[in-house]
Amino acid sequence: MLIKPRALLSLLALVALSVPFAQARGNAEAGAEQANALCIACHGVNGNSVVAEWPSLAGQNAAYISEQLRLFRAGHRNNMVMYPLALGLTDEAIADVAAYYAAQTPTGLEADPATVAAGEALYRGGERERGIPSCTSCHGPAGLGNPAAGYPALRAQHATYTVKTLQDYANDQRYVNVTTGEPTRSRNGHIMSVIAKRLTEEEKVALASYIQGLR
Ligand code: HEC
Ligand code: HEC
Repeated sequence: MLIKPRALLSLLALVALSVPFAQARGNAEAGAEQANALCIACHGVNGNSVVAEWPSLAGQNAAYISEQLRLFRAGHRNNMVMYPLALGLTDEAIADVAAYYAAQTPTGLEADPATVAAGEALYRGGERERGIPSCTSCHGPAGLGNPAAGYPALRAQHATYTVKTLQDYANDQRYVNVTTGEPTRSRNGHIMSVIAKRLTEEEKVALASYIQGLR
């Protein structure tokens, strides 16, 4: 039987579409082995880090974890600790470890009572006059992110890490080549770069405090 050109085209489109998803689906069991051998020392048991500079990964969506690991591996996300570690990971290992961390549950942290109210107001409402959108619109009311879009979950993250991250976006230091310092490309980095530039240091601290207590 002859396949009609139209049918062939849609078949090809289907194959092309399914490739990224096929890559993204990892094996959480294999990922657990990787994580316990290579990542646990910094990212903690089940991805719950106990060091404020090292982000928790528990419950982060797999699409975001994979994307960030590829950016570290390419030297596009500026971090000398993660760069050599990510260099050793195959595409399959990245998908596996992402599937493992996505299935874990974040535990522990609470907001700082001194700044939580200001953080909550800005997180939920934004500030229209200064062009700051509500964080809820993309990261969700409970900081769960948007897994379908690959937007990261924020909840229960160490405030110290979140402040550092917002500063990196604001200073255009998150996506520069790890060795040359030249600007690099990321799919979504510009979104946060624009927003973070509009936040004062106090606001970054307050937002990070509120986020640390979110579940
Ligand atoms: C020696 C400590 C260390 C080890 C080991 C380590 N990491 Fe990291 N990781 C970090 C630090 C520090 C950061 C924050 C980088 C930054 O500030 O940009 C990070 C960031 C990340 C991020 C980005 C998180 C985010 O919210 O953007 C991912 C994903 C990640 N690591 C995955 C892994 C995986 C998977 C492994 C094991 C293969 C691993 N890490 C091993 C220290 C470590
Ligand atoms: C229009 C959608 C959008 C809005 C609004 C938004 N974000 Fe984001 N945010 C993103 C995306 C997409 C990323 C991932 C960017 C990348 O690839 O580096 C991100 C990343 C982050 C990260 C880094 C997470 C990590 O683990 O590395 C933090 C922290 C963050 N956003 C905080 C905020 C805060 C606080 C607000 C409100 C002031 C906010 N975002 C508003 C879309 C948004």
